Amino acid sequence: MSEGYGLLKGKKGIIFGALDERSIAWRIALACKREGAEFVLSNAPVALRLGQLDALSEATGAPVIPCDVSSDNEVIDLVNKTKEHFGGGVDFVLHAIGMSPNVRKKLPYTDINYQWFQQSLDISAISLHRILHHADEAGLLNDGGSVVALSYIGAQRIFSKYSDMNDAKALLESIARNYGSRLAPRGIRVNTVSQAPTKTSAGTGIKGFDGMYTFADMIAPLGNPSADECADYCVTLFSDLTRKVTMQNLFHDGGFVTSGISEQMIEDLAKVYANEE
Ligand SMILES: NC(=O)c1ccc[n+]([C@@H]2O[C@H](COP(=O)([O-])OP(=O)(O)OC[C@H]3O[C@@H](n4cnc5c(N)ncnc54)[C@H](O)[C@@H]3O)[C@@H](O)[C@H]2O)c1
Repeated sequence: MSEGYGLLKGKKGIIFGALDERSIAWRIALACKREGAEFVLSNAPVALRLGQLDALSEATGAPVIPCDVSSDNEVIDLVNKTKEHFGGGVDFVLHAIGMSPNVRKKLPYTDINYQWFQQSLDISAISLHRILHHADEAGLLNDGGSVVALSYIGAQRIFSKYSDMNDAKALLESIARNYGSRLAPRGIRVNTVSQAPTKTSAGTGIKGFDGMYTFADMIAPLGNPSADECADYCVTLFSDLTRKVTMQNLFHDGGFVTSGISEQMIEDLAKVYANEE
């Protein structure tokens, strides 16, 4: 592991959502370790059965605490075990959780299953509220802490294949703002990081992902950021260097959000249409 800047020395946290080594949360865990943080890792019991998280646990010295974030009881259990493990509270929380049965089954947005829609919203967005509620109630959130949830630009713009996850991300960003306002008097920040398409298990499970990835990469002046680059950005948000940043949706997308079209794409499109004439 390369040397860091010690930005998170003495900080304790919870990292949700590392599934395998491509996961953004996995890369964030490695970066947090590099910067001197201690943390617990959590994922749904069904994800833990895949067994891959043990390798990250070994590499970082972080215990794994199972938790399906759609269950209040499991979140309460995780909160209590985390408190017991650290003998106190946490300074940062990473929410890197997303799941839509409708996207998995590739149902078109106009013909989704409503029970699955509720599951998408519950697991991908409302879980942020549930985690913060139970953590706060148990006194787990230290003053001056930082909470980051990962989002996607589908919250603002239409990406048809992202289906009900567009709605889930819009709700996630709203919960981050609303909870952020309630925790701000204690110096606790709550932000979302809107990451560009990234080749992970959740990402590549979306129909048309390759097209979305290439399109974003061609438009973004800096190109798509990797999961490791996202991890570095999240480290700054967990650190004391960003103490007055809260209730924001922060785009980490190489400049995609403010770009219209790139020179390269104009040239490529011109060639395609010239060939068709
Ligand atoms: N990959 C991308 O292109 C991209 C882009 C922007 C934002 N994001 C977001 O980043 C976050 C992490 O996703 P990723 O791309 O690293 O993929 P990933 O598949 O590695 O991570 C998603 C995680 O959510 C967990 N999860 C699902 N249901 C759960 C439940 N009920 N309880 C607890 N955990 C549960 C999964 O086990 C998995 O670890 C997600 O919020 C995703 O929407 C991803």
